[in-house]
Amino acid sequence: MFKEYCSEKIHLIESELLTILQADECIEPVLCEAMQYSLMAGGKRLRPMLLMAAAEAIGEKGSKYLKVACALEMIHTYSLIHDDLPAMDNDDYRRGKLTNHKVYGEAMAILAGDALLTLAFEVMANQEDVEPANLVRVIGEMSKAAGQAGMVGGQAIDLLSENKSITADRLKLMHQAKTGALFQTAIRSGAILANATEKQISALTCYADNFGLAFQITDDILDVIGTEENIGKPVGSDERNHKATYVSLYSIEKAKEMANDAVNNALDSLTIFGEEAKILRTIVKYLISRNS
Ligand code: IPE
Ligand code: IPE
Ligand code: MG
Ligand code: MG
Ligand code: MG
Repeated sequence: MFKEYCSEKIHLIESELLTILQADECIEPVLCEAMQYSLMAGGKRLRPMLLMAAAEAIGEKGSKYLKVACALEMIHTYSLIHDDLPAMDNDDYRRGKLTNHKVYGEAMAILAGDALLTLAFEVMANQEDVEPANLVRVIGEMSKAAGQAGMVGGQAIDLLSENKSITADRLKLMHQAKTGALFQTAIRSGAILANATEKQISALTCYADNFGLAFQITDDILDVIGTEENIGKPVGSDERNHKATYVSLYSIEKAKEMANDAVNNALDSLTIFGEEAKILRTIVKYLISRNS
């Protein structure tokens, strides 16, 4: 049932992403091709799926907010293109394909990322069938989540922590920022657009924070014990770059335990919801068993 739910949502998200790209007037085909190359390369589409699942937990149809959901996937994809650049993690594969800069060169990869980020905001502004005040709040929150106090700031901590041992608190902050912030904005956005109460938003925020933490801890683990075929990106990237991760600071076993705890905390934060949060419960449980 969950598998069917995911493939149905992935199909919806991917056809909308393609529609958005095709509707965007293209003035330089190489740049547009580079944008499409990474955006349409697959990926789990977890963030847009979570945005829609959060709206569903509030009793709205998630697909109503497909444009905002796709915009978030564009921001995420831009973060991946830049994360893989030689100046950052210097990785050659992503989503099972050569990384953007390996195909289009570094300069074009930087521009493709920039263009996806900015297109995301245009797409959000075009979301219909929402209360304007809710949309403005979402755009504000998503900007913050993507920037210095969120994903970009977390990436800065990540780079400055290479070859260093950092404290547990700083490692947690780094994970919450570089990865957690986009998950938090995914879930809060779905809830806000669906007119959730502040109490519901705050319960879902707690769910999201634990989700993000469990997700990045698992990403650190898969970098060590995953296979390139399954994760679609090189294994051992963190060790090669001397990154601070949950595996390097603790151990695989301890990291697994911490991911498990975060999943349980996420589930606990959903107690005010009933059946309508079923998908959110299922998605977070999948984090423990994921191999890709
Ligand atoms: C990878 O995210 C980057 C991290 C935050 C760890 P995902 O594992 O969600 O990547 P895709 O979208 O499925 O490729
Ligand atoms: C990066 O974390 C998170 C982003 C903001 C892109 P990682 O560097 O661990 O992500 P992967 O493993 O390359 O996907
Ligand atoms: Mg990185
Ligand atoms: Mg990386
Ligand atoms: Mg990683």
